[in-house]
Amino acid sequence: MSGTETIVVIGAGVIGLSTALSIQEHLSSTQSVLLVARDFPSDTSINYASPWAGAHYRPVPGSSPQALREANQALRTFNYIKKVATEEPAAGIKLVQGIEHLEAPPPEYLDSQSVSNVYHFEDFRSLEAEEVPAGVKWGVEYGTYVINSPVYCAHMLRKFIVKGGRTQKYTFVNINEAFALADNVKTVVNCSGTGFGDPKSFIIRGKLITDRGSWILVPLCPYSQTLESIANVDPGQTCLVRNPVSATITRQNEDGTWSFCIPRPLDGGTVIGGTKQPHDWDPNPSPEIRTQLLTNASKWFPFTPESGGQFDVIRDIVGRRPAREGGMRIEVEQVGDGKNIVHAYGAGGRGFELSRGVAEDATALMLESGLLRVQARATL
Ligand SMILES: Cc1cc2nc3c(=O)[nH]c(=O)nc-3n(C[C@H](O)[C@H](O)[C@H](O)COP(=O)(O)OP(=O)(O)OC[C@H]3O[C@@H](n4cnc5c(N)ncnc54)[C@H](O)[C@@H]3O)c2cc1C
Ligand SMILES: *[C@@H]1O[C@H](CO)[C@@H](O)[C@H](O)[C@H]1NC(C)=O
Ligand SMILES: *[C@@H]1O[C@H](CO)[C@@H](O)[C@H](O)[C@H]1NC(C)=O
Repeated sequence: MSGTETIVVIGAGVIGLSTALSIQEHLSSTQSVLLVARDFPSDTSINYASPWAGAHYRPVPGSSPQALREANQALRTFNYIKKVATEEPAAGIKLVQGIEHLEAPPPEYLDSQSVSNVYHFEDFRSLEAEEVPAGVKWGVEYGTYVINSPVYCAHMLRKFIVKGGRTQKYTFVNINEAFALADNVKTVVNCSGTGFGDPKSFIIRGKLITDRGSWILVPLCPYSQTLESIANVDPGQTCLVRNPVSATITRQNEDGTWSFCIPRPLDGGTVIGGTKQPHDWDPNPSPEIRTQLLTNASKWFPFTPESGGQFDVIRDIVGRRPAREGGMRIEVEQVGDGKNIVHAYGAGGRGFELSRGVAEDATALMLESGLLRVQARATL
């Protein structure tokens, strides 16, 4: 057997790509990374969430262990993304103003500790009653970032290859296949999103509309799957339009539904959203939802007057957020024979917001387990 070792990363979504890049910073001279996925950034598949994401950064208040863990991952991602935005203009990231208008703020928003746990921005500001539209009870603004998600994923893939990473297109039925894809595979990193086989994973489309993190589970099981075998997916429908907007605005309506607009950097249009429909497996966009999204957006978001309330639609988007009860799974599992599976999946509706923190946490676990070399290499 050769002296070189291949680390296999499964998944080329934002989590797999971020993790592969982070691992590359800690390779010994005899290790290399092979990124294997069914879908790569140029592909479009409803089961490949990353290209469909808005994607903006908006904190989710809370005090639960999961909320605090995510807040920490989100903060590290925020600092990393800010740095990438200034150093790598082609990454598709832009720093913009973030605004939130809530008509019926859930209890976490009214608890000052839950809010200060996650709203870490230096320029964070509560909006006065006269600064917000009628009916809004909770309003804030802060400087945040937006990401052109397909551009950012393609950018990360390019960085990975430039740094010596290899790729292979392949669809796994069983994760053990990954140990046979190359000589001497000791570590397989599972960043497969909705992936395969975890009873706690599910998907969420966008029709039943609830706050993120508290979706309603709908026992809807086409394809003769039992609920146990369905990964938690969180599907959602949004609409991509050409009309530009200068800030990312999130509005929560009185009935608890959420609307948002997210400008996509590098002339990527504006994403208008959005719905959440847990366990809805319908892959087709609904024209009624599109009409509602656009009608609401014209009322609430500052599109430039020359559009005259008309939208120039590029396409409807239906995507599935790979959710998991209890949040993401990040752990190292020894599977015998000196072989290890590193899990990093179940990012739900926040994969971009958490991506760098998740990648660092997975890498740290690999370092602790002796699967990577401790000394970071001077790369970049
Ligand atoms: C409408 C919408 C709006 C969103 N907005 C935001 C936002 O504003 N901010 C934010 O942070 N997030 C947002 N998200 C969520 C975000 O898109 C996801 O959290 C993120 O993309 C998950 O990334 P991932 O890498 O875990 O999974 P994915 O992007 O789904 O990637 C999974 C990878 O694993 C591969 N794979 C899976 N199974 C197999 C197999 N059997 N064999 C081989 N390869 C396999 C796939 O091919 C793919 O390469 C949004 C999502 C949607 C749908
Ligand atoms: C790999 O991740 C997927 C989620 O993407 C999960 O369903 C599956 O159980 C994981 N595989 C293993 C062997 O843990
Ligand atoms: C549009 O706004 C109304 C509240 O005014 C809300 O009930 C509805 O769910 C919104 N539709 C979408 C698709 O966001």
